Amino acid sequence: MATWYDHPEYFDMLFRDETEGEVKFFEKAFERIAKRKVKRVLEPGCGSGRLVVAMAAEGYEMTGLDLSESMLNYVNKQLKRKKLTAETVIGDMTQMDLPHKYDAAFCTFNTFRHLLSEKDAEAHLRSVANHLNKGGIYILGLHLLPLDAFEHAIERFTTNYGGTRVTTTIKVIEFDRRKRIEVLRVLVKATKRSGVIERVKSEFPLRVYTCRQLKSLFKKVDDVLELAAVHDYEYDIDETATFDDDLTEGVFVLRKR
Ligand SMILES: C[S@@+](CC[C@H](N)C(=O)[O-])C[C@H]1O[C@@H](n2cnc3c(N)ncnc32)[C@H](O)[C@@H]1O
Repeated sequence: MATWYDHPEYFDMLFRDETEGEVKFFEKAFERIAKRKVKRVLEPGCGSGRLVVAMAAEGYEMTGLDLSESMLNYVNKQLKRKKLTAETVIGDMTQMDLPHKYDAAFCTFNTFRHLLSEKDAEAHLRSVANHLNKGGIYILGLHLLPLDAFEHAIERFTTNYGGTRVTTTIKVIEFDRRKRIEVLRVLVKATKRSGVIERVKSEFPLRVYTCRQLKSLFKKVDDVLELAAVHDYEYDIDETATFDDDLTEGVFVLRKR
């Protein structure tokens, strides 16, 4: 059975409704938190590129980087269809080697948690910092673990697009607080207009973070990135969030020193 990340179109459908609110937030954060004008922007782990495409449409010089060739092929197809340009690069976000410096970067909805060790997480943050101009910002969004986490949560979403009805079920099937890993199972059932049903199943690990663990990681890279603002998945630039154990959906704005 094919995996989730081999099907950018299903992945893209799930997050499509979030895109507009994220883009608005990014632009406000560029204005208010970056200490430079933002023109060139990087998305490490860009996936299906919904944000690369939306930001290119707003006039930013975008680069999307991802490990997955099928994701980047999908991004390039969307760009072509909308007559937009952006750079897409196959690469590992823990050791990026791009020819430009950027004014801003973003990585939302848990992509960062694909990095399973502290070493890789720190390497990623340093790699982003190396690619940012002074005063540029990195917007990082991820779920944090509440202290009383319900460890085998299940979520189900249904979306409709172009006559295809897609139900995505995400379940935590393994959870190890000591190793700081949870394994997610994603099941997609796509019912096409013709009645044909396609199923996609993926299982992948994500690193888990408590508030204390994320604060400790940010402290390790504080020589290059300062924590400039904390928000949540409401994406409201006027509402900051408190970085404590009650914060479960964090959007952190780090600024290059
Ligand atoms: C959740 S998806 C991307 C979502 C995208 N940021 C968005 O908000 O629409 C995660 C992506 O991270 C990519 N990825 C995972 N580990 C990576 C790494 N070490 N370097 C680059 N990309 C990576 C996967 O290939 C996948 O496309």
